[in-house]
Amino acid sequence: MTDALPLPLVVKDLSFQYHTRSTPAIQNINLTLEPGQVMLLAGSSGCGKTTLMRCINGLIPHSYNGSMSGEILIHGQQVRGMGLSQISTHVGTLLQDPERQILGTYVLDEVCFGGWGVGNGTGYPAAGRTPGKPGSCLGA
Ligand SMILES: Nc1ncnc2c1ncn2[C@@H]1O[C@H](COP(=O)(O)OP(=O)(O)OP(=O)(O)O)[C@@H](O)[C@H]1O
Ligand SMILES: [Mg+2]
Repeated sequence: MTDALPLPLVVKDLSFQYHTRSTPAIQNINLTLEPGQVMLLAGSSGCGKTTLMRCINGLIPHSYNGSMSGEILIHGQQVRGMGLSQISTHVGTLLQDPERQILGTYVLDEVCFGGWGVGNGTGYPAAGRTPGKPGSCLGA
């Protein structure tokens, strides 16, 4: 019998309160994502959807101050204690308005930006735009 792989995402009793607020934005959230599962998070404006996403992608606590309790595990690893670049190797975020997310002038710069962000040496801008080698930054 083989050991089961750790689940892609487990959120346990997660609560977060922005430091500027007197009440929590999210409280005691519990969810589990199975391999291959797609989950839609829906709710009224202000119910905390974005806040939960910020906790999963690391923007909370790295970019937003506040008090957090509970835990998040990605592939069995505690997100607490992981740096943003490490989290970004597991979690991608597509914003509501993709046009505000585009950083590169060229498609290739944009594709390579991810590798550059995690510092694996394969990405933007070192690879540059090599004519005839559009996949060079990806080692393709
Ligand atoms: N940067 C912030 N600083 C302080 N409070 C915030 C911040 N961002 C969100 N909040 C508050 O946290 C609560 C949850 O907001 P959040 O943006 O997570 O909700 P949402 O479900 O994503 O809303 P929407 O559907 O409008 O995008 C709200 O009361 C909101 O005012
Ligand atoms: Mg939102």
